[in-house]
Amino acid sequence: MDNRPIGVFDSGLGGLTAVRELRRLLPGEDIVYFGDTGRVPYGSRSKDAIIKYARQDVAFLTTFDLKAIVIACGTVSSTALELLQQENRCPIFGVVEPAAQAAAQASASGKIGLIGTEASIRSGAYERALERLRPGGTVTARACPLFVPLVENGRCRPGDAVVELVAAEYLTPLRQAGIDTLLMGCTHYPLLRDVVGAFFGPQVALIDVGAACIRQVKIYLAGQNLLSGRPNGGKGRYFVSDSVDGFARLASLFLGESLSEQVEQIDITAY
Ligand code: DGL
Repeated sequence: MDNRPIGVFDSGLGGLTAVRELRRLLPGEDIVYFGDTGRVPYGSRSKDAIIKYARQDVAFLTTFDLKAIVIACGTVSSTALELLQQENRCPIFGVVEPAAQAAAQASASGKIGLIGTEASIRSGAYERALERLRPGGTVTARACPLFVPLVENGRCRPGDAVVELVAAEYLTPLRQAGIDTLLMGCTHYPLLRDVVGAFFGPQVALIDVGAACIRQVKIYLAGQNLLSGRPNGGKGRYFVSDSVDGFARLASLFLGESLSEQVEQIDITAY
């Protein structure tokens, strides 16, 4: 039994979709969340910038006594996971491998679509994992740089002409490729599930990277006897690098419930 909190971070709010799953699957766990809202998005930045930011994010989180860290960000997971694991003693989990496993299992035909930020797609990390887990399959990948800003601005619901137009442009080549599974390789994308689901129809399985990762974290913690002793009532602490104004309102969209805990602003450049 281990009652220390789990650290979770993302470039912004998207990682809260992983927190939502964490609260659902492991309601007794305490959580420390950091969202780098002052520097979002990471997905259009260089590899060097993403590594620098990710190191600072982990340095901040490790000021807490954590039992594990979840990189609730496809961009950081695909760019810096191994490096962060080498540099830190605390176990660190990324979203790429668990999501690729879920996609490989879900796909009957092996025709898998992949969407993510520019940096995630450029890294090739998801494709390498899928190739290893589903040899001989076909991956059709597409960077979707407009999705994150649309989601962060709340433009993610069916009936919103702008997001539907952008989605159609990004996703049409994947539909033409005849995919049966779509790996949504960014933790912001679960908010687009209804738009994307309506575009493809029910015959395409949608894989949520944050949820896939949390399922794996649960298996790891249980296997190592590191689950908290509480069945319920885990607490959250939330930190951001930009103003806290409006955070709770937007955060509730990602969490699927209102955020009752305090949110604090920190200077991430100090780490
Ligand atoms: N949530 C991040 C991810 O999963 C994307 C946001 C960003 O570009 O910073 O990749």
